[in-house]
Order: sequence, then structure tokens, then C-alpha cells
Amino acid sequence: MRANLLLLIPFGLCSQLCSARKNVLLIIVDDLRPEIGVYQDESNQYFSGIKTPNMDALAARSFVAKRAHVQQAVCSPSRASFLTGRRPDTTKTYRVAENFRHLGGNFTSLPQYFKQKGYATAGFGKVFHNAKNSEDIDEISWTEPYFKTMNKDKWKSKVSWKAASATKRLKYPLPDETIATAAVETINRLASKNNAKPFMLAVGFTKPHLPFIFPEEMFDLYPKTSINLPNNPYVPSNMPSRYAWSRWAELRKYQDIKGATGLMNDTLPDDLVKQLRRAYFSCVSFTDMQIGRVLQAVSEQGLNDDTIIALIGDHGYLLGEHGAWAKHSNFGLATRAPFMVSVPGLTDDSIISNEMVEFVDLFPTLVEAAGLGGLEVCPDDSTDIPLCVEGSSLMPLITNNASVPWKDIAFSQYPRTRRSTKKGVMGYSMTTQQYRYTEWKKFIPTTNEPRWNVNYSIELYDLTSDPDENHNVAEDSAYLEIRRDLQEKLRAGWRAVYPGGIK
Ligand SMILES: *[C@@H]1O[C@H](CO)[C@@H](O)[C@H](O)[C@H]1NC(C)=O
Ligand SMILES: *[C@@H]1O[C@H](CO)[C@@H](O)[C@H](O)[C@H]1NC(C)=O
Ligand SMILES: *[C@@H]1O[C@H](CO)[C@@H](O)[C@H](O)[C@H]1NC(C)=O
Ligand SMILES: *[C@@H]1O[C@H](CO)[C@@H](O)[C@H](O)[C@H]1NC(C)=O
Repeated sequence: MRANLLLLIPFGLCSQLCSARKNVLLIIVDDLRPEIGVYQDESNQYFSGIKTPNMDALAARSFVAKRAHVQQAVCSPSRASFLTGRRPDTTKTYRVAENFRHLGGNFTSLPQYFKQKGYATAGFGKVFHNAKNSEDIDEISWTEPYFKTMNKDKWKSKVSWKAASATKRLKYPLPDETIATAAVETINRLASKNNAKPFMLAVGFTKPHLPFIFPEEMFDLYPKTSINLPNNPYVPSNMPSRYAWSRWAELRKYQDIKGATGLMNDTLPDDLVKQLRRAYFSCVSFTDMQIGRVLQAVSEQGLNDDTIIALIGDHGYLLGEHGAWAKHSNFGLATRAPFMVSVPGLTDDSIISNEMVEFVDLFPTLVEAAGLGGLEVCPDDSTDIPLCVEGSSLMPLITNNASVPWKDIAFSQYPRTRRSTKKGVMGYSMTTQQYRYTEWKKFIPTTNEPRWNVNYSIELYDLTSDPDENHNVAEDSAYLEIRRDLQEKLRAGWRAVYPGGIK
């Protein structure tokens, strides 16, 4: 080894020069609502007993967005959105099996951007989607072979939750354990190349998505008696049931849930609710362990000061609140998800932010944090523009630049009827510091355009007096002026509140 030292000097120089370019590690956790220690302080909706030491440690050196909302509360539409920095009406990806490159346009994805900038890019597990084929993987985004996850078939389940035995795990590690192992190996391999190239890794963990499968010892963290019931196991009063409600078919397909109707106010028995919550929390702690292994590898390679780390969910989740389960709606619990970014040198003491953040902000934030400059804001029609974004870099918040006014609105949407049926419905929704406001509009499936003048139903929740969204006050005359104001803001859309204005 010593004999090689002289030869290595040029690389050593490069490593000094190149070290200005930081690595980027993006960790995406499937179906993780902000059920993490750092989010527990101000809301009674999340479980105070959650155990997430590794995510908490990352939060302690990150910018943590407390009010971050996804643009659509279901996996691949949300991922297509934050991985292109564009909203669902631009990616035109509203359903699980859809691909933005065929529908919205051949847009440059976040990892593809870093690839173009000379980074080594590697994907693991569920990034764009389930990684079944080359389209799911988005092959063009990666310089390294994609890691698709192992042992999935060994851990299939007909029941909604299962504690995995240590013996079986020894033989067949859980899929997320194989993802963490592959990510650790890749970090070690890429780090050992003398920093010739910075890396961008996207590591997509698949739990706590259903079925809830976790190592049996996780149960010890959550004694049965410690599990609480949600305090609002019923549908909001005056909720427009025709569109706002989802019958949580995703959970009802499991054998142990089959009797359930999913109808409004027909809630699951308390004991089953507690079982499911306990299993979900166990999955969260299991995923936290895997995240810990990946963060440990970065640290052991001495890369903590050279690596930007983002950790996000892909949307929120309901665990019996409103008597509902999973996502597929515009409730705040479905759109709100964890969002933190660690930028060495800037967030070392942690920045907890209550500003409104949207997941489309991730792409421009990581690009600017990596020192690659600002990205253009997309024009109205960006079909043919490979690179532009519909979010705003969060660097003004991260650098505490008070001269940049911040947006007070996060926009989300959820479609209700199938593309195959003639009649489409889109729930356009927005969250402000004080309200959640949703209009369910007629939506033309062929052109993907809403008819703003056709009004199906409206929801308005006053988050100051009703943070859990239990009372729709859209028809309450006391809110007439507020409703008018919010209606205008919903139509004006994200461009009207873009921080600092659009140049
Ligand atoms: C999409 O764009 C990439 C460059 O970003 C190009 O290599 C690829 O051929 C394009 N695909 C299609 C189908 O046009
Ligand atoms: C469900 O129950 C809640 C609380 O009792 C009530 O306010 C709401 O109107 C009910 N909704 C339906 C559709 O039964
Ligand atoms: C703060 O933002 C303003 C407006 O965008 C910009 O001109 C200024 O350079 C920023 N200051 C810092 C310290 O980044
Ligand atoms: C929309 O429809 C609801 C009833 O479904 C009605 O109360 C409301 O006033 C309508 N809003 C507008 C702006 O037409």
C-alpha cells in the first residue's frame, strides 16, 4: 500500500478539490407518517411512545419541516412529483401504475440530474415505485446497478401483520434488511474510490407499508397496554361523504380484516385497532434500525461532513383516526409526512421549522445545498422542458434568510374516480397555518383539467380550534369570508405564493 502513496498524490489533490462537492443521501420511507420523536411535541395525533433513536439523532443535525405536505397522498404519484420537482397536474401521474415519462413528459429526475452533474448515482428498494421492472426503476437515473430488494417472496402475507421470528430472519433477512445491507456496501465501495466522484444515493425502505412485518423483538418496545386508541374514531361532522371518504380497501383485503365494510362510522373493534397500531409502530422502529445502519456507514467512512442527508416519507397515514386507514385522501394525516434535510455546516444544531413546506421543494433544495445553483421555475406548460421545477429551494429557511418571505400554503390533490370512467373528480386541497380547504371538482380525464365552475363539494377545517379536522365548517356562515378568500387562493395556485415571486 505504502508504495502506492506517491502515485496517489494526484488523486489526493482531486479529493481536496472535489470535496467541495458533497454527496447526497436520500432516504425515502414508505407510508411513514411523522411518527418520529421530533414530531411528537405539538400534536396529540402521533404516538408519544414511539421509539426512533436513529431518526431522532438525524433530526438533531437537520432542518426539520414540521408542516411538510405531499402533493398527492399515494405512493407513485407522490414520488413522481417529488422526484421530478413537479406537481401531479404536470407529471399527470395520478395513479399507482402510471409513469410520468409517458404521461407528463420526459423530465429529468432528481437522481438523473445528479448523474448528469457527474455523480455516481445508485438506487435501492422502492424509489420511484416497486422496482418490478426497468420502468419502475427508471433505469436512466442511475450509474450503478439498481438494487431491487431480496426475499420479498419469502415474506408475503395474507394477514395484515406478523412478527418475524429470529430463526427465519437469519435464513431470509427481511427485505428492508437487504436494502440497508446493499446501501452500506455501496457507500463503502464508493467512498473508497478516493472521492474521485461524489455519490447520490436514493434508499427506499418498504416498511411501515402493509403488511406490517417486523422482527418479533420490536414488540418488546411496545407493550400492549401502552398502545392508545385514536381520539377521533369517527368521520368529521358535515363531511361531503361522496368524495372525501376512502373505504381503505388496501387494509380490507387482508384475511384478518375481511369482515370490515370500510363504511363511514363503521370502525374496527378497539382490540384490532390496537393490534394494527402496535404493529405499525413496531415497523417504524424496525425501519429506524435499518436507517441507523446506513447512517453508521456514512459516519464510519468519515463522510459526515461531506454528505447531505434527506429523510422523507412518501405521504402520511391514518391509523384509525376518523375510523379510516392508510392514505388515499386529502385529510391532513394523509398529506402530512416527515421531511428533514441535514446540510453539514448549516444544520448541525438542528433547525425546527413551522413554515409551510411542499415535497416539490425537495429537488431544488438538494441541488442548491449541493452547491449546484438554482433551478428554473417551470412555465405553465413544461411538457417539453426536461429540467425545471414547481417547488422552491428551502435554502432561505435553512440559512435563516429573513429577507425571503415564505409561502403560507401547501397544495395537495386527490382524484376520486377511475380514469376509465367518463366522469372524473379531483379534490384540490390546500393547507395553511390555520385552515385546510378542499374543493372536489369535475375533472376532465382526457385533458386532465379541472372545471372550476362545476362545484361538487367543499371542505373547510379550522385547524386552530379543530386541529384533528373533526368538523367541516364549509357551510357555516361564520366562515363565509374565509371560505371566499381560500377559494380565490386555491384557484390562484402555487405560483401566486411562490417565495420571493417568480422571475
Ligand atoms: C429522455 O431524455 C433523456 C435525456 O434526459 C434521453 O436520453 C432519452 O432518450 C429520452 N427518452 C425519450 C423516450 O425521449
Ligand atoms: C359519524 O359520527 C360523527 C361523530 O358522532 C358524526 O358527527 C358524523 O355526522 C357521523 N357521520 C356519518 C356519516 O354517520
Ligand atoms: C437573502 O435573500 C435575498 C433575496 O433573495 C438575497 O438577495 C440575499 O443574497 C440572501 N442573503 C443571504 C445571506 O443568502
Ligand atoms: C359549492 O357547493 C356547495 C354545496 O355542495 C355550496 O354550499 C357552495 O356554496 C358552493 N360554492 C360555490 C363557490 O359555488
